[in-house]
Amino acid sequence: MERHVQIFLNRLSFASITVATLTLLLLYLQTPETCFDPSDPNPKPHTRFPKSTCDFTHRSYTSIDKRNRRIWSTKTWTNAVSSYTSLLKTLQARNYLSNSSRVLVVSAGPGHAVQALQELGVEDVTGVELVDSPPLVSRADPHNLPFFDGIFDLGLGLYLDRALFPGRYVGQIERTVRSGGVCVVTVEESGTDEVEEIVKLFKKSRFVDARNVILAGERRTGIVMRVENNS
Ligand SMILES: *[C@@H]1O[C@H](CO)[C@@H](O)[C@H](O)[C@H]1NC(C)=O
Repeated sequence: MERHVQIFLNRLSFASITVATLTLLLLYLQTPETCFDPSDPNPKPHTRFPKSTCDFTHRSYTSIDKRNRRIWSTKTWTNAVSSYTSLLKTLQARNYLSNSSRVLVVSAGPGHAVQALQELGVEDVTGVELVDSPPLVSRADPHNLPFFDGIFDLGLGLYLDRALFPGRYVGQIERTVRSGGVCVVTVEESGTDEVEEIVKLFKKSRFVDARNVILAGERRTGIVMRVENNS
């Protein structure tokens, strides 16, 4: 009787070990249900956020490309881009801008002006904003631009009126533009007195002119300054 019990217990423990091992193996191999099927031909974009670490599918530039193509084909976008094209063409006509100019766009937003410049044929365009919008705009603080002195031919400050420290904002654009280069800042539509105040923010540049423009549907004033002494 003792022997029988012993054999029974041995078998029982063997069976338990087998069941436990198989269970472990099964857990290990099983794909959690929160995983997405990468081959799903109709993925819902809003479900694409990873819900678990098992989602290894690469959220690469293809999705950004798709999103950009959608945004760039909207009327709002193309209208905004062409409003910047008009402003840029006036700069081109006065030889402040050419295809070989190195151009910096500060407060580039989602990149309207950057795209306008690229479409005109300007090859060396750098767009920065507090939030990046690849591939047009990278992230940088306008109050502390990560560029060497005097490396740009043209510096555009698209939203001086939204800068926390206007003096510093202007100073940074002025610093990165070479002597003889041009800075253009735009502000909410302004009168002569306000323009004079803005001109005073520039320490190394001479006033060229100011004009009212419509940019991305807003009435604004663009102020053109030529950098005189940036050594
Ligand atoms: C600038 O580049 C654009 C696009 O490549 C071209 O159509 C245009 O003729 C160029 N302008 C000049 C002045 O070379």
